[in-house]
Amino acid sequence: MALSPEESFKRVVSHAKEYGFVFQSSEIYDGLAAVYDYGQNGVLLKNNIKNFWWRAMVQLNDNVVGLDSAIFMHPTVWKASGHVDAFNDPLIDNKDSKKRYRADVLLEEHAEKLRQKAEKEIEKAAIRFGDSFDADLYRTTNPRVVGYLESADLVMARYVAAMEAEDLDAVRQIILDEKITCPVSGSSQWTEVRQFNLMFATKMGSVAEGASDLYLRPETAQGIFVNFLNVYKTGRMKIPFGIAQIGKAFRNEIVARQFIFRMREFEQMEMQFFVKPGSEMEWYEHWKQARLRWHLALGFNASHYRYHDHDKLAHYANAAADIEFEFPFGFKEIEGIHSRTDFDLSRHSEFSGKKQQVFDPETNENFTPYVVETSIGLDRMFLSVLSQSLEEEALADGSSRTVLRLPHALAPTQAAILPLMKKDGLPELAQSIHGDLKFDFQVAFDEKDAIGKRYRRQDAIGTPLCITIDHQSLEDGTVTIRDRDSMEQKRVHRDELHLIIREIASMESLLRKV
Ligand code: GAP
Repeated sequence: MALSPEESFKRVVSHAKEYGFVFQSSEIYDGLAAVYDYGQNGVLLKNNIKNFWWRAMVQLNDNVVGLDSAIFMHPTVWKASGHVDAFNDPLIDNKDSKKRYRADVLLEEHAEKLRQKAEKEIEKAAIRFGDSFDADLYRTTNPRVVGYLESADLVMARYVAAMEAEDLDAVRQIILDEKITCPVSGSSQWTEVRQFNLMFATKMGSVAEGASDLYLRPETAQGIFVNFLNVYKTGRMKIPFGIAQIGKAFRNEIVARQFIFRMREFEQMEMQFFVKPGSEMEWYEHWKQARLRWHLALGFNASHYRYHDHDKLAHYANAAADIEFEFPFGFKEIEGIHSRTDFDLSRHSEFSGKKQQVFDPETNENFTPYVVETSIGLDRMFLSVLSQSLEEEALADGSSRTVLRLPHALAPTQAAILPLMKKDGLPELAQSIHGDLKFDFQVAFDEKDAIGKRYRRQDAIGTPLCITIDHQSLEDGTVTIRDRDSMEQKRVHRDELHLIIREIASMESLLRKV
């Protein structure tokens, strides 16, 4: 029986804990909200995702280089970037449930519900009218469908106008006019809307010496901007070129829900691509396509991805789109592609007094490059991979097995070495095969429990291959190799193992699909 979205999400969360992928932070002290630790399998999967991104960016593009900047930055960076003044979420509380929400999220979800109602009407009409049905015509002429779609657009247009006018009362009024209720209490007793800054503040130095206020960085991007000229000069770079970075970011998220989807400490994989002014839209389209290709290379169903072009642009952008992924709780942003203009470099020029410009030999003039950014949350990517891969498979004999169909190159362990029995020299031979393979691959060794149980354990953590050592192995050096997905087994010689594992689980084969 198919699980409801809530049930399947719960399964992902409990699987992540049970099999050592993700733990609640400081769990023995009852946890810390929206902060998580990655366990023995989680850290391997996470590192493989990082590696896939890093190599696709830095190794496959000869005009993209890497960087690892510090989390602490001069406090003026965040003044210049606009985060001190504008990195806010509009919040609203429900007086009955005492629950706090982001006003923009309430409105976006409401608009999405209206759009879904329109789609339902169209689906019903398609069944009623059969082959002669013209969905596009119906969408623009049926009064009920047109009504839903216009209402959805109007809600978002009013929201954009209210935020641009910095009129928080007007934002609240849309929530009241649309009769949006609290999902917990069902009431529409809302407080005022307030702005809340998401940066964590801390101090550097002792109080006696005069400590200075710092922020934990809310994005890795600024570390790239302030190093732009360092990399440009020392790397002898030419525009257009990009700088990529993976690192921690911190946000005091108000509505921290949905497991590792929205965390207070998380990791970003960001790339800032510096281009000539006027060419930014071309590069924006280029990176929009390139990033979707990277996601699709993993081989999950393409219908789980879609673009969402922004209605309301961030203070620094002249175009922006999200790549959304269909999580068990619906389509949500996994990655942003933003055309950030020269906003950041110009602001850093202004605030530091040091021009962030390059020389154009064609025009004999200095100019401030424009920037196209790609920014993906590593933890969200991890959640998308985990939730797509987890499956309860019904087997022919009426039983079922839990299998994590991870893309092979991302699996925490590429192969498990399993001696059939704990005697007759089988463990020793298995150890020697393990010793051979471990220099090239992440391989596990497991001799506990019956072989069937061990296969299931490896299926549940996504190991693509199980290599079993039996009595015949002692005689002729052959082993059986079992495929995670088909469960088929074949006999091969131990000397072939390197090649077989490389063919099935190497990062190279994944990168070639990007
Ligand atoms: N430098 C641009 C930037 O930071 P963003 O849309 O705020 O843009 C980029 O964040 C990505 O970072 C998002 O698409 C998401 O995947 C991830 N992200 C943002 N906030 C997050 C959070 N609280 N927890 C986990 N991931 C988050």
